[in-house]
Amino acid sequence: MDTAEPTFFETNPKAGVVGQPLDRIDGRAKVMGQARYSAEFVLPGLVHAVLKTSDVAKGRIQSIDTSAALKEPGVLAILTHQNLPALARTPNDAEGKKAIGAPMGFLPLTTDRIHYAGQPVVVVVADTLERAQHAAALVRVNVAVEKPLASYEDPKAEIFDPLKVQDGKTPGHTVRGNAKEAFAAAPIQLTHTYVHAINHHNPMEPGATTAHWEAPDRLTVYESTQGVTRTQKSLSTMLGMPQEQVRVVTKYLGGGFGCKGSCWPHTILTVQAAKAVGRPVKLSLTRPQMFTSMGHREDQTQTLKLGATKEGKLTALIHEKTSTTSPWDNYSEPNSRIIDLLYACPNFEATYQLARANVMTSTFTRAPGEAPGSFAIECSMDDLAYQLGMDPLAIRLLNYADKDYSTNKPWSSKSLKQCYARGAELFGWSKRNPKAGATRDGRLLVGWGMATASYPVHNSQGTARVRLYADGHAVVQSGATDLGTGTYTVMTQVAADALGVTPDKIRFELGDTRLPTAPNSGGSVAAGTVSSAVYMAAQDVWQKLIRLATQDKKSPLFRARPADVAVEQGRMVLKANKNKGEDFMALMKRAEMTDIEGNGNGKYGAGYETGLATSTAEDRKVEHAMHSFGAHFCEVQVDPDLGTVHVKRWVSVHGAGRILNAKTARSQIIGGSIFGIGSALMESTHRDQSYSRYTNSSLADYHIPVNADIPDMTVEFIDEHDPYINAMGVKGIGEISMVGVAAAVANAVFHATGKRIRSLPITPDKVL
Ligand code: MOS
Repeated sequence: MDTAEPTFFETNPKAGVVGQPLDRIDGRAKVMGQARYSAEFVLPGLVHAVLKTSDVAKGRIQSIDTSAALKEPGVLAILTHQNLPALARTPNDAEGKKAIGAPMGFLPLTTDRIHYAGQPVVVVVADTLERAQHAAALVRVNVAVEKPLASYEDPKAEIFDPLKVQDGKTPGHTVRGNAKEAFAAAPIQLTHTYVHAINHHNPMEPGATTAHWEAPDRLTVYESTQGVTRTQKSLSTMLGMPQEQVRVVTKYLGGGFGCKGSCWPHTILTVQAAKAVGRPVKLSLTRPQMFTSMGHREDQTQTLKLGATKEGKLTALIHEKTSTTSPWDNYSEPNSRIIDLLYACPNFEATYQLARANVMTSTFTRAPGEAPGSFAIECSMDDLAYQLGMDPLAIRLLNYADKDYSTNKPWSSKSLKQCYARGAELFGWSKRNPKAGATRDGRLLVGWGMATASYPVHNSQGTARVRLYADGHAVVQSGATDLGTGTYTVMTQVAADALGVTPDKIRFELGDTRLPTAPNSGGSVAAGTVSSAVYMAAQDVWQKLIRLATQDKKSPLFRARPADVAVEQGRMVLKANKNKGEDFMALMKRAEMTDIEGNGNGKYGAGYETGLATSTAEDRKVEHAMHSFGAHFCEVQVDPDLGTVHVKRWVSVHGAGRILNAKTARSQIIGGSIFGIGSALMESTHRDQSYSRYTNSSLADYHIPVNADIPDMTVEFIDEHDPYINAMGVKGIGEISMVGVAAAVANAVFHATGKRIRSLPITPDKVL
């Protein structure tokens, strides 16, 4: 640990332990099996629930025969739409959905209707998991089956235009300038269609709920969620209980990737099961159920029209997206957002079209919007480069956006040129043979591709509490979550620097609605919001201690003006004479204080209505566009006989503000890039178009990259200081890691083969 520099900061911390590659402080607990995940809380009298789900995608339940199942030993309750304990509110109407903050406007077990395959129809509770599973198999559900719709591709599907924002999450039309006229007049016109497969999040830890009614008016839920506060709000609204009576705890998460960003049906069903049996109930979704319980990335087609001058300057971009949604919701991930702002283009238009089908509602999935949107724009930019005989990097620099064209605001900071330059240097881009299909390594075709990445700094705020003890240790709390990406670790680092103590003196607690409220870990907001809240809470402590010192006759700072006092490594000193001062332990001991509390509010970003946090009109009045940027460079080898694509080299360089931990940040970029490679080459959930059922709902059939698919990756960050984002200058890196990745791979495949594949994933059948 580098402690050479003083670590008090006025608006931003100087480098201390922040930024250092500290090992995960929760790492040992995890590998020792001591970390309790949400399905691992052992409570007295705990029993088990399983879901029986519908095999058919559309129909009406005629009858449910539970008689045989109820006779089995250990069976405690069987819940159906006929006996589910009543709820104060359900998301089944628009108002209820909004009040609950539900991701889906339909709650199973509230009607005899079946709307999608995998819809829960029965909840069985028994004293052991095996007995619950066995009893569930004995329940007979008779359904009058109807012919379902499977997607927008079904000729019978009605494509409609949601026209405007329905729920703050569904994007509407965007028009800037006159894109149609500009495109018609453009000497270069490219029109291409991009297809994205259904993707599922597939976190290692499935969705899991342990519900414990400690009293009729007191509920504790151990939940696998990216946000305890949002889950608390959803549950308390459905139950008609004050929020304080519902406690939600999430100490560890085995990934989430968006599917744990909202409160899905299985959670409230488990809560109601616990109510019905009067005992704590645990439910863990099975892997197949994970494909029909917590959303997915929707099947979608995008058409991008790109107009440019003969020199390669963009004049028009017209984007259309068509995707499948559920019978109730108008959800579409906002692909056009990144296309609107990635380059300097004066004319832009975007429209969204939807079709209802018998599927559950899709949801935020790993860089929602930006990931598939960047695939379209970054492949089209590659096409433009080839059409004009220009280098793909040069065409991007020619169209570099010096401001945000989508809002006409200056960037709060942007290091994309440095990312391009450093990435190109690390990769050796200048040695690229510009001709496609011309580079070989023996029998194999070699391709080099690159793409730009960007992700917004979504508006968010959260709170933290610091309790500093006179013996030199501190407990720091915020109701945030750690997806596994390092919240525990980075917040410990931030608190250590802010309080001038070493990290081993800090205990950081998260994942509990009893702690100060924090936003969801989603939309890349957690690191920036929570670190700023922790920092502000530490400042609150210092302001109190400085006031105390200046009023204490025995303090060397007696009668100093608080504004003249600085803090350096836990010492309060006169700015004019840093020898004069004292440390907090001396002051607190003299004052006979055991501890002191500080509270902080961290505000982060602005300008985006994301549905991820509550923002006020005031918060959105910002003068800057806030985004992180980056660049990916990729080498693939393509087997011309087998059509297989292997990623052989990878370089990513990002500018994302302050990086809180060099090691966890690098890991996060690697993880996100691997998501992107997965979506580029393998990941695809296949929905049968006749039955609207998934045919590969297992990790054996839903392919994700394994070690053999991924090379050693080079990741770097540009040292970037952004004074506008938040107190810590942290932009967040949760999602940018994936943006542009699929395009970089597809562009490399084009360079290797001369074949442009615009349908993901790029499987051998498409390559050959
Ligand atoms: Mo992220 S897809 O916002 O959890």
